[in-house]
Amino acid sequence: MKRYYLKTMGCQMNEHDSEVIAGILASLGYEPTEELEEADFILYNTCSVRENPERKVYGHIAAFRKLKEAKPELVIGICGCMPQQKDELESILEKLPHVDLIFGTHNIHRLPELLERAQSGERVVEVWDEAQAGPGEDHRDGLPKVRKHNVKAFVNVIYGCTNFCSYCIVPYTRGKEHSRLPEMVRQEVQELTEAGFKEVTLLGQNVNAYGKDLGAEITFGTLLRELHEIPGLERIRFTTSHPRDMGEDLIRAMAELPKVCEHLHLPVQAGSNRILRRMNRGYTREYYLQLVNKVREAVPGISLTTDLIVGFPGETEADFEETLSLVEDVRFDSAFTFIFSPRKGTPAARMSDQVPEEVKKERIYRLIDLQNQISGEHMQKLLGQELEVLVEDVSSGGLVGRTRSNRQVHFAGDTCLIGQLTVVRITEASTFSLKGELA
Ligand code: SAM
Ligand code: SF4
Ligand code: F3S
Repeated sequence: MKRYYLKTMGCQMNEHDSEVIAGILASLGYEPTEELEEADFILYNTCSVRENPERKVYGHIAAFRKLKEAKPELVIGICGCMPQQKDELESILEKLPHVDLIFGTHNIHRLPELLERAQSGERVVEVWDEAQAGPGEDHRDGLPKVRKHNVKAFVNVIYGCTNFCSYCIVPYTRGKEHSRLPEMVRQEVQELTEAGFKEVTLLGQNVNAYGKDLGAEITFGTLLRELHEIPGLERIRFTTSHPRDMGEDLIRAMAELPKVCEHLHLPVQAGSNRILRRMNRGYTREYYLQLVNKVREAVPGISLTTDLIVGFPGETEADFEETLSLVEDVRFDSAFTFIFSPRKGTPAARMSDQVPEEVKKERIYRLIDLQNQISGEHMQKLLGQELEVLVEDVSSGGLVGRTRSNRQVHFAGDTCLIGQLTVVRITEASTFSLKGELA
């Protein structure tokens, strides 16, 4: 029995890619291990969105040289977004000579052959710029998957991104937008529900662009309506939506389809129009606020979350205060906050007016403080409420599940409830977690 150690960094697309990689490795007779020393194959599925995690990859993998010396047949691999950038690939090849196998985000289905070649001593590098698949085609279709959860599952609907926000590396690492055929998405969701899954999260960097490349009368809204018909499916989530492309038909679908959960992740990035323009986001603060109103009107009580970047080049104190005031206006349920990280090859990295590190840090602390206060207030309001919870797993002696608004709840109960919808009364609320009891 061979063992693999798989480390996953980055977004849900990478998490799901790792489920496919785990499936392929299982079909090759590999078992997972958490112990590096036990592994015959160490693989890092990497993210390029910010610099720090990339640096960590170099640090970690450099340290594996000793493992390789002790066990020469060990295969060390890097996949995911880092090798998709030419400079980074060259740097990996040069700085990490003991890495045997490098493949990109479009080459996952080729892993069995690539791994075999690496095992026989070849240094294997295979990174395609694009999926090399026809419209609607998906090389991942039919590949085995080892899913992390038994109750909820990720389902890809669209790969890539062609938005080119000026700070973002993703369009360069994941290639152009490429939708899966609706019938293939439907088949996967149907198979999942037949296997007992209750919830799906539809994945794409910009799900609102779904269908545009298929040349048919299909949008993300129509896809939601089609999936909604699948018996046994209880909940549908999706991520991520681009505010610019969030059209009436999607808002209507969210309002009309009971299986679509009342949660929307709608990254705004910044509150100042000048910065939004420089980010190439394609909307203004006023447009975003109006969109939020529309969504809240259509889906009362919806939970709204966002992504925010501080310290984008040229961001003044006044610009940053506009981000703070937008956060106060919208009152997001929660937010992922990021310090701008210049990514080589993106327009923002070449802008001359970079913000000093200490200013970025000071701003992010202020932003986090404000958002935490607002998140905490949202959570306090849930005290005493009875909420529908999909029970996912056991956790520290009890059960854990999520509300429709995607909040995690811990409560006591029998393990036979796992996979069921139940109602939980909230008894304790802190900024990030809820406790409750079966109602
Ligand atoms: N496609 C999604 C969207 O449009 O919002 C998310 C893509 S990205 C993987 C997730 C988040 O990382 C972005 O929303 C942005 O806030 C952040 N991000 C992307 N590039 C960044 C950079 N260069 N520096 C800091 N944060 C960045
Ligand atoms: Fe990056 Fe913008 Fe595409 Fe999101 S929409 S992945 S932030 S380029
Ligand atoms: Fe990172 Fe690639 Fe996702 S850059 S955020 S893993 S698409």
